[in-house]
Amino acid sequence: MVKGLFPIEELSARRTPFYYYDSALLRATLAEISSLLLRYPDWKVHYALKANFNPALLQIIAEYGLGADCATGGEIQAALDAGFAPDGIVYTGVGKRDEDIRLALNAGIGRFNVESVAELQVINEIATAMGKVAKVSFRVNPDMGAYSYANITTGLTENKFGIHHTMLEDAVKQALLMTNIELCGLHFHIGSQILDTADFIPLCNRINQCLELTDRLGVTLRDVNVGGGLGIEYDHPNHRPMADFASYFEVYKKHLHTKLPVHFELGRSVVAPCGTLISRVLYVKEGVHHKFVILDASMTELIRPALYSAYHRIENLTSEEAEEVYDVVGPISEHSDVFGKEVKLNRCRRGDLIAIRSAGAYGEAMASHFNCRPFPEAFISEQ
Ligand SMILES: Cc1ncc(COP(=O)(O)O)c(C=O)c1O
Repeated sequence: MVKGLFPIEELSARRTPFYYYDSALLRATLAEISSLLLRYPDWKVHYALKANFNPALLQIIAEYGLGADCATGGEIQAALDAGFAPDGIVYTGVGKRDEDIRLALNAGIGRFNVESVAELQVINEIATAMGKVAKVSFRVNPDMGAYSYANITTGLTENKFGIHHTMLEDAVKQALLMTNIELCGLHFHIGSQILDTADFIPLCNRINQCLELTDRLGVTLRDVNVGGGLGIEYDHPNHRPMADFASYFEVYKKHLHTKLPVHFELGRSVVAPCGTLISRVLYVKEGVHHKFVILDASMTELIRPALYSAYHRIENLTSEEAEEVYDVVGPISEHSDVFGKEVKLNRCRRGDLIAIRSAGAYGEAMASHFNCRPFPEAFISEQ
């Protein structure tokens, strides 16, 4: 029974579907990160806005002094509006647009994570025209995977991301010749939803090699950014509502051989557990082999199951009746508009409130207007 976790009366009074965010859990998570960072005073966590750019959540996250990891000019603006310090903003992305580069330079962001020499040249040109110097880290493609989902693995040779580690030396030499580029760091990101923190050890080894290279080239860096990727327990949101940040930081402490400050870009692990998609049962439909629970939520509010076959725990918040087995689906005419197959739920009836858990990351942020459906609203609990 998880019903005590949710303010059922308040939720019932609202029009569904909507995202419910537990601000107390978000604050507890941020407090845990802040307290662990006391052990590593010059390390910094940047919150990856792509996971969730809801302005009220951003304001809470900014209060805890995190930096921001942004993928577009829109995210940079959202971070600035929420109160993140400009010099704590890093801007990553394989296809930065000129106007977004200008916005970033005007705002005085802390770092461009540059993904190609072609991009570096454009940033240098734009910075020169504006009379500014761009602080840059090279995003290095380390040619190694995260072992979680193949489609959220970003560090392989075949991926579009970063400068391949074998091409780093040439890129560094070119950067050193550019007048309006200051090369400040190296950046990495191998993928997402990584639960076994030992998966980060090969990355540490690759980073150590790359730092040996930059040392050999006589470059003095300011920091190294290891990206994000820490996973959460989608299966057990009640038992483990927080990611294992302590083990995550320890792996880097143990396996990175550098005195440089280490920066992180965490998205999912910060916000996923605090978010729940709340929906209502429209119909319970008897099929030949299956019983279907048809929700008023769909892949337009939460696309992860359709996109990655991602698992989210589903619960009936308003029934205490014996469990039955259902396929839980949305109303859209797409084969993949399914939240879960053969899900055990307390017996469902029309109007029951259904919680789709751990949906705070890559949920609301990836919502669409498909079928002319409105964007989901958000309700943030007072803490
Ligand atoms: C460059 C970069 N940094 C950070 C993140 C955040 O990753 P996560 O949400 O897994 O922590 C992502 C996610 O795609 C990313 O692409």
